[in-house]
Amino acid sequence: MTIERSLVLVKPDGYRRGLTGEVLRRIEAKGYTLAGLSVLTPTREQLAAHYAEHAGKPFYEPLVEFMSSGPVTAVVVEGQDCIKGFRSLAGATNPTEAPPGTIRGDLGRDWGRAVQENIVHGSDSPESAAREIAIWFPELGS
Ligand code: RTP
Ligand code: MG
Repeated sequence: MTIERSLVLVKPDGYRRGLTGEVLRRIEAKGYTLAGLSVLTPTREQLAAHYAEHAGKPFYEPLVEFMSSGPVTAVVVEGQDCIKGFRSLAGATNPTEAPPGTIRGDLGRDWGRAVQENIVHGSDSPESAAREIAIWFPELGS
C-alpha cells in the first residue's frame, strides 16, 4: 500500500467566490486527509516553476495573470491513489465539459476569458506531485 500525496490549489476564482470550504469538504468527504494547508497570493516566480510545462503556450500569460490575481489555498492531500482520485473529483479542465458531480462541473462555468478559470488544480502524476509540493510547501520535504 502506497499512501500518495497530491498538490491541490483552490485557484483565485474559487477563493473569490467563497468556494474554498466546499472544495475542502469534498476532499474530506471522499476520505482523503489534509497534510498541509496554506493561503497565499502566488508570486510570478512560483507560478513560472509550477506551470513550467505550459511556458510558451497561448494561454500561459493569461494563466499566470489569473493565478497571481489574488489568494489561493494550497493543500497537500493524502490518501491511497489520491492523485488520480482528486483529478476525478475535479473533472475535465473545461468546466462546461466537466460532468455534474465534479468540482468543476458543479461549481465552474466558462466566463469567456483568455484562460479557463476552473476553481482547482490537482497534480497529474507522482512526479508532478513531488515537484509541486516542493514549490508550495518547501518545509514539508519528501
Ligand atoms: P490543472 O493543471 O490546473 O490541474 O489543470 P489541468 O491539468 O486540467 O489542465 P492543464 O492542461 O494542466 O492546464 C493548466 C490550466 O491552464 C488553464 N487552461 N486554460 N484553453 C484554455 O483556455 C486553457 N487551457 C488551459 C486552466 O486553468 C488549466 O487548469
Ligand atoms: Mg495540469
